Amino acid sequence: MTNQVSRGQEIPLRLELRGITKRFGDLVANDHIDITVEPGEVHALLGENGAGKSTLMNQLYGLLQPDEGEIVVNGEAKVFRSPRDAIAAGIGMVHQHFMLVPVFTVAENIALGAEEIRGGPLGILDRRRNRRDVLETSKKYGLPVDPDALIEDLPVGAQQRVEIVKALTRDVDLLILDEPTAVLTPQETDELLSVMRSLAETGKSIVFITHKLREVKAIADRITVIRRGRTVAPSDHPAATLDRNRTSFSPDTPEDELAALMVGRQVSLEVSKTPAEPGREVLKISGLVVDDDRGIRAVDGVDLSVRAGEVLGIAGVQGNGQTELVEAIVGLRAARSGSLELDGESLAGMGTKKILRSGVGYIPEDRSLDGVVKEFSVAENLVLDMYDRPPFGNAFKLNPKAINESAAERVTQFDIRTSSPASTVSTLSGGNQQKVVVAREMSRPLRLMIASQPTRGVDVGSIEFIHSQIIHERDNGTAVLVVSSELDEVVGLADRIAVMYRGKILAIVSPDMPREEIGLLMAGITGAEAAAEPEPEEETE
Ligand SMILES: Nc1ncnc2c1ncn2[C@@H]1O[C@H](COP(=O)(O)OP(=O)(O)O)[C@@H](O)[C@H]1O
Ligand SMILES: [Mg+2]
Repeated sequence: MTNQVSRGQEIPLRLELRGITKRFGDLVANDHIDITVEPGEVHALLGENGAGKSTLMNQLYGLLQPDEGEIVVNGEAKVFRSPRDAIAAGIGMVHQHFMLVPVFTVAENIALGAEEIRGGPLGILDRRRNRRDVLETSKKYGLPVDPDALIEDLPVGAQQRVEIVKALTRDVDLLILDEPTAVLTPQETDELLSVMRSLAETGKSIVFITHKLREVKAIADRITVIRRGRTVAPSDHPAATLDRNRTSFSPDTPEDELAALMVGRQVSLEVSKTPAEPGREVLKISGLVVDDDRGIRAVDGVDLSVRAGEVLGIAGVQGNGQTELVEAIVGLRAARSGSLELDGESLAGMGTKKILRSGVGYIPEDRSLDGVVKEFSVAENLVLDMYDRPPFGNAFKLNPKAINESAAERVTQFDIRTSSPASTVSTLSGGNQQKVVVAREMSRPLRLMIASQPTRGVDVGSIEFIHSQIIHERDNGTAVLVVSSELDEVVGLADRIAVMYRGKILAIVSPDMPREEIGLLMAGITGAEAAAEPEPEEETE
């Protein structure tokens, strides 16, 4: 038995998708899609949530069968009945939601599924060989992974490397990455982009699915935009794929133009707002110290104040205490010391429910955990924290009519794309789920609004809307605190920016400060240090 699925190493893979059509009932998720992927290129598949990108790639990876159309690899039409067939033809995929087993090691996860390819359960020899394969692949492509680490102990960025190494140990020539940066920090994203570039340089093709324009412009050789199941092109462009090497698309192509193609209308990527008119101090944080789940100091003596009618943005790489800071404000996490005051009244020991009911709106960073109840309907989610109060009900019963009327109104007002307010939230796209949270939180009188990663995983059209709603809330006189690891988002929304690093506020700066300087602060480098001579590395021979 041979230990590798070998397909003649030197043949580069040229892929053609011809007229691929996929229906789910009445919905046409892919409508006659033609795409060509050349060897050694990074081909970006750009489209909003629900456009049909994953569906298309799942057919290429053998997870779904096309209703019509052909998959052609190096001139030969192929039928992929399972990922095993796709892998055998040289095609690998890293999914949007990782498919790793948390309690297994890296090497075990990479071996999973390989037994199928190798024709039997892994024996001891196979295990040893597998561990060696992992290390070799890791070294060959500059993707550091520890074969013996448990998946559950790894940060998201490292888990993703494991998925990529897993695909590469299968010796694939075309790698599909489905929204790989959605969960990454800016640094992790940059690392991944350079890994993609170097993989392409070795002759592999990369299909990079994303809705982030900045990334596409940074890395893509060619772009295909998909909207509502179809490829779309600018009116003056003959083909649906935009080519960096031709004049039609260059790194200078305005992002607005690509966004308009994706969304099907002009979208404004800039947040439009007038100067803030800050009023009274609404939130006052003094000397706040908060520990994380492991008892490690996450917020280390923070003083901040947010005024009525202003947006205070907190910039920082994820994991620098922002999450714990927000959780402490809304009473989800106890403070070790320091004080939190809302309009002069202490929030200590108040409890989350009471804090939210006293006029604090909260858009949590993980809507699937704290934001929505996926099994409930859109209408139910819209009254999640008000169902026992008039007009929606009282302590004894609900008033379905009032709930439904209010829901229908807000579905329209907040442009929530759902077939009906009675649909369960789990059927909505990520962006629309987030609009449900925003609609709920902004439909009651607020003194303070806390928005944590308000547009994470949200498509361009919805981002524009959510941003305008946040500014609207500010202009109504609410004090707004926005926390985001997307620097562009903080800069766009904030009137003042607090940069958080290792639990401390390093500086409070204006959103007009150059992006690079804010970036340095996010990396913990303050002005004085940046100006000074770099400290010599200590040599320990
Ligand atoms: N297994 C499925 N059954 C029914 N509808 C589906 C299924 N998978 C995807 N869809 C629908 O197909 C459309 C395209 O989805 P998807 O390919 O996941 O979009 P994208 O990856 O671009 O966000 C969406 O409307 C989605 O709800
Ligand atoms: Mg998808």
